[in-house]
Amino acid sequence: MTQNTPLAVASATPSAWLRRHALPLTGIGAIAALAAAAFAWTAGWIGGDRLTAQRMTDTLEAGGPPHPGFRRAHSKGVCVSGVFRSSGQAAALSSARVFTQAQTPVLGRLSIGGGDPHGADAKARVRSMALLLRTDDGQQWRTAMNSFPFFVVATPEGFQAQGLASRPDPATGKPDPARMAAFLQRYPEAAKFQQWAKTAPWSNSWANTRYNGVNAFRFTAADGSSRFVRWSMRPQAPFEALSAAQREMADADFLSEDLAARLARGPLRWDLVLSIAAPGDPVDDPSQPWPAQRPEVVAGTLELDHAEPQAGGPCRDLNYDPLILPTGIAGSNDPILAARSAVYSQSFNRREREIGHGRAPAAAGADGGAR
Ligand code: HEM
Repeated sequence: MTQNTPLAVASATPSAWLRRHALPLTGIGAIAALAAAAFAWTAGWIGGDRLTAQRMTDTLEAGGPPHPGFRRAHSKGVCVSGVFRSSGQAAALSSARVFTQAQTPVLGRLSIGGGDPHGADAKARVRSMALLLRTDDGQQWRTAMNSFPFFVVATPEGFQAQGLASRPDPATGKPDPARMAAFLQRYPEAAKFQQWAKTAPWSNSWANTRYNGVNAFRFTAADGSSRFVRWSMRPQAPFEALSAAQREMADADFLSEDLAARLARGPLRWDLVLSIAAPGDPVDDPSQPWPAQRPEVVAGTLELDHAEPQAGGPCRDLNYDPLILPTGIAGSNDPILAARSAVYSQSFNRREREIGHGRAPAAAGADGGAR
């Protein structure tokens, strides 16, 4: 499917969705506090050698030809919507309304990794899910998750170094192996990720993929107690592998075609699994997985029943900034989180300007950044 190919189940427009679900932005104060670290990071006040969101976004852009108006990463995707049904089980962990409200409307986006909005689905190793949940107290929870179980590097500097090392060499059109080897020597944690990318089976659908938040967040309950948590969306649809031979044959847009076919048969579901850190678990390094036997709580079930193209869809002009969080969930000191927030804002501002929705960066975000 390309940007303009309608999915079978399209109906809602962005304004229709917002009319149905827009609520007073009473959570803005909390959002502003959470955004402060990201703002400082954007301005270059944090990050030692002045690695800024601008430079990181420039590096993402240098990874391929320009695609004005599209996200600088995860450029190809579709808008989805549905509801999150709380199990009530997470209310003891966090006071966020989403864990007690029976049903919360969700506006999401399913995507693939990479910066080509028209790239072949079967070439993308990473699949992704982004969600915006708006509760009846006016607060928002935005999250963007990936199919990998841990991140490639521990720091924004490592991510920038990877982007520079994998830039195509003008002579060969491919990354320079010597630069890649130097990157791996400096950031040895990336070897673990490369091993995952080489060996983990590929799923054959967005619907049967598990999406992992990877970064740790602090959950605070109504009684004031708090703990660090990582979350994942665990599919109820059984995993089915896509072999290397099937990847060769797959249609360029097989993921959205499969999604439309599945949605025509009924809603798709994922369980929101919260994994709780034990003392000593790394909470500021998303490249380090926690041991598998950490206590888990199923906070509820995500049910998606609708998909439509991102062109003109309600997810296009959204920024799934991982630091837009409701009361009861806060970011950790993970430096990747602050960098993500700042870089997503850069990417959002650039793509909105390109489609003629330009605003001065300081004012941007009435919808895209909510701050
Ligand atoms: C320093 C590290 C990272 C950088 C610089 C980065 C950069 C970006 C950028 C520029 C976008 C496009 C934003 C937009 O225009 O709206 C994006 C989207 C996305 N990122 Fe990241 N990212 C990082 C780490 C991560 C991690 C750790 C995850 C999840 C585990 C993640 C998941 C996603 C997803 C799912 C999207 C698509 C969101 C959507 O559908 O709008 N990213 N990223």
